[in-house]
Amino acid sequence: LHHFLTLEGLKQHHLLEILDVAKSFVDEATGTIKKVDDLHGKTIMNLFFEASTRTLTTFEIAEKRLSADVVNLNIETSSTKKGETLLDTLWNLEAMLADMFVIRHGESGAAHFFAQHVAPHIHVLNAGDGRHSHPTQAMLDMYTIRKHKGDIFDLKVAIIGDILHSRVVRSQIQALSILEAREIRIIGPKTLLPADTAALGVHVYDNMEEGLDGVDVIIMVRLQNERMQSALLPSEKEFFNLYGLNEARLAYAKPDAIVMHPGPINRGVEIDSAVADGPQSVILEQVTYGIAVRMAIMSILVKNAKELAAAQQAQNE
Ligand code: CP
Repeated sequence: LHHFLTLEGLKQHHLLEILDVAKSFVDEATGTIKKVDDLHGKTIMNLFFEASTRTLTTFEIAEKRLSADVVNLNIETSSTKKGETLLDTLWNLEAMLADMFVIRHGESGAAHFFAQHVAPHIHVLNAGDGRHSHPTQAMLDMYTIRKHKGDIFDLKVAIIGDILHSRVVRSQIQALSILEAREIRIIGPKTLLPADTAALGVHVYDNMEEGLDGVDVIIMVRLQNERMQSALLPSEKEFFNLYGLNEARLAYAKPDAIVMHPGPINRGVEIDSAVADGPQSVILEQVTYGIAVRMAIMSILVKNAKELAAAQQAQNE
C-alpha cells in the first residue's frame, strides 16, 4: 500500500494489519491513545473541500500522535477561490515539501485524481470522495465491531438508511465482505437502495422488523440530502416512521447487539435519542477509535515506503 484510496481490491491481511496496528496504539488500561514518533519529520496536509467534524479532527489528532508536522489548508480562504486549479494548488503544496495529503472532496474520484498527479514519494489518503468511498471510516467501524464482538466472520450486520448515496456504506460493505461477515443486510426504501444489490452480495429488506431480526450489529446512516435529487427526498417524519431506529425496533436485534452510526446523526430522522444515547450505542466510541485507526493507516503507509526504499537500495548495492 502506498496510497489509501479505497478498500476495493484489498486483501483480508491488509485490513487485519490495520486493525492490529490500531490496537497497538490504544492504551487499554487508560482508554487513551499513545503518542509515538512513527511520522517524526513528515509533513501532512489536510485538504478538506467538504465539511467535516469527525474525520478532519481525528486525522489531525492522529497525525500529531504520530509526531508529524500538520497543516490544515483552509479551502475557503485559499487561492482556489481566485481561480487556481486543483492541480496548481496541489503542486504548490508539494513545493512546500508535503509528504502526505489527506483529501475530502465532493467529487467521486477526487482522491484518485490527486494520487495520479502527485510526486511518487507522496502518499494520498481518501477522507471521503463524493458518494464513492470513505475507507478510513469503514476501518474504524470494523475496529469498533471487532472490539465489541470479536471476529467479524461470525456476525450478522444490518445497515439501514440512505444506502444509495452513502460513500460510508459502500466502504463498509467492502470491508465486511473482505472480512467475511456471516451476513450483510441493507434496509431502506427502494428509492434509496442501489440498483446493483445482487453484485454487492447483500441481503435486501424494506421492512425494519424483518431486517433487524437477530442481527449482532446495527449501523444507521443519515439521509444524504446534499447528494440527493429532491424527487427522491422522503419527508423526515415519514422516514422516521418507516425506518427510524427506536427502542421497539431495536428489540428485534440480538439483546447484546451494538448500535453504530458514522455521524453526523440526525435525531428523530434516522435514530431516536433514546437509542443514540442508550446502553447499546457505541457511536462515540467509533469517533475515539478513529484516531487509532487513522494512525495505523498512516504509519503503515510510511513503514511500507521505508521498507521498499531499503529493498531498492540493497538491490542497487
Ligand atoms: N463520519 C464522518 O465522515 O463525519 P464527518 O463528516 O464529520 O467527518
